[in-house]
Amino acid sequence: MSKAGLEGFIAECRTRATRCEHAAVAVEEIAPVMHAFMREAEGLLKPEHFRSEPGHYARNAVYIAPEQDLSLFALVWNPGQWTPVHDHGSWGVVGVLRGTLHERSYVRVDAAKSTDEGIDLVPGGVFLLNPGTITSFVPNPDHIHRTGVPDGASQVVSLHLYGRNMDSFHIYDLDTRTRRRVNVAHNES
Ligand SMILES: [Fe+2]
Repeated sequence: MSKAGLEGFIAECRTRATRCEHAAVAVEEIAPVMHAFMREAEGLLKPEHFRSEPGHYARNAVYIAPEQDLSLFALVWNPGQWTPVHDHGSWGVVGVLRGTLHERSYVRVDAAKSTDEGIDLVPGGVFLLNPGTITSFVPNPDHIHRTGVPDGASQVVSLHLYGRNMDSFHIYDLDTRTRRRVNVAHNES
């Protein structure tokens, strides 16, 4: 990275995202940058980025671009805290900093693909993501998954870089075969 620290990381990711027309190429270009950043992230993040919440996983904003086209969050998961089944509406690159993040993926198999009803999801693979692991996703079709930490496991901290301000996404209800868009809260730095 040409510039050091968090600012340099953001600038490098922005440069690569801007020059890549396709999301799949952008995440390929940004994943190694995130991988390198993970080695220094502990020392560059502030104490408030490691805040946890008693009732649900914490979303601590590290950076949200004024243009709303890039955002970085530190997510802190206590044992037993999980997301709902959700998608993203954006590309994203995720790095695990502490603990083992569990991911359970789903594949949408109904023909409609983008409706809010009549959704058929089938379980995909399960991933156990250790510190230093980088994972990514691209939209259209979006990656659908649930992430979290099982009871009895250690707290997890993960860094999530998105190609937009991640302030809303779809959550899926497998029983009613529906999805709805929800606004999601975060802690300001
Ligand atoms: Fe996600």
